[in-house]
Amino acid sequence: MKRKLRLKNKFIPVNIPKLFNQEKINVKKCLDTGWISSEGEYVKKFEDSFSKYNKRIYGVAVSSGTGALEIAMKSLNLKKNDEVIIPSFSIISTALCVIKLGLKPILVDSNLDTWNMDTDQVIKKISKKTKAIVITHIYGFPVDMKKILRIAKRKNIKIIEDAAEMIGQTYFKKKCGSFGDLSTFSFYANKHITTGEGGMILTNNKKLYDKCRSLRNLCFGTGTHRFNHNDIGWNYRMTNLQAAMGCGQLKNITRIINRKREIGKRYISILSRCNKIYIQPDKLKYSKNIFWVFGILLKRNTGFTRDWLVKKLLKSNIQTRNFFYPMHKQKIFHKMKLFLKKKKFPNADYLSQNGFYLPSGLGTSNKEIDFVAKTLKNILENKI
Ligand SMILES: Cc1ncc(COP(=O)(O)O)c(C=O)c1O
Repeated sequence: MKRKLRLKNKFIPVNIPKLFNQEKINVKKCLDTGWISSEGEYVKKFEDSFSKYNKRIYGVAVSSGTGALEIAMKSLNLKKNDEVIIPSFSIISTALCVIKLGLKPILVDSNLDTWNMDTDQVIKKISKKTKAIVITHIYGFPVDMKKILRIAKRKNIKIIEDAAEMIGQTYFKKKCGSFGDLSTFSFYANKHITTGEGGMILTNNKKLYDKCRSLRNLCFGTGTHRFNHNDIGWNYRMTNLQAAMGCGQLKNITRIINRKREIGKRYISILSRCNKIYIQPDKLKYSKNIFWVFGILLKRNTGFTRDWLVKKLLKSNIQTRNFFYPMHKQKIFHKMKLFLKKKKFPNADYLSQNGFYLPSGLGTSNKEIDFVAKTLKNILENKI
């Protein structure tokens, strides 16, 4: 009873990262030697080890997953108004990398089982103007991408695979992030591997690699003409300090993934018989769930709303995060006269209105997971 009360009074945040001793050793080395900006041994080490882990040839470390998407998209050299297919239900970064470059975003709805982009719709929306598709894997399972990849290859449509949430995940036993012409990752504090803030682009194509490296670093000129720039780039460099953390984290990737799956299975064991919610299974035919976060989707006609439920959880000191807000409803895009035609994305709407995720961080303890799951179960069964 006492233990229960103590947990009740303790705030459980939606994410607690897990850091290991190796990160501290590596970061201390940077501080001791003064290699604190983007120059220094760890950036290249992290790029090499992360690309090797994902079975890709080249890696370009950058300052965020959003920056990785922008650079990857720009490296494709597409023309104004070329069409790029993206999911409506995603982080805004997916749309920004298209819109900021003057390309035309073509939205697709979601699949209600996987919460990923609906692959049949992707194929239907391919037109002569389609030049790229951003395959965005969301929450736990990868997009079932076989058909898309086959058609894209045949039609010479470029694929950017956004694997920000899928570090270490596989699709038919092959690493997510090894499928696109370019793939992108995020190392924000809630990702499987974190550098605080950070991102990475992977590719097997030397030309794209060179272009991405240049875009990350202001497209500096060469030799004596260093300050005569080749293109409009960004300063999206990753620091040696961040890469030092990444190298330490990557050493523990197997432990990290095992723990994520343990958290997911623990939640499933307590919540699987709650008939008012839908939770994802721990595996599909092509992948085991990697549980980047543990999502909850309210079924229809429960008699209460998602917002009521998350407020109840917060009263028990449990923080949650609502699912993404879909792109076709973003005020800022409407102001820009985007997505004004009354196209329907009922599944993206349903997910964004009825979904949220529970504390799923690597630093969250088993006691906390059990407390969260049991509190949610009690609310759903009207016991509190
Ligand atoms: C699928 C996806 N892509 C891109 C990003 C952007 O990454 P960052 O926050 O590092 O900019 C995120 C962030 O959560 C994400 O979930």
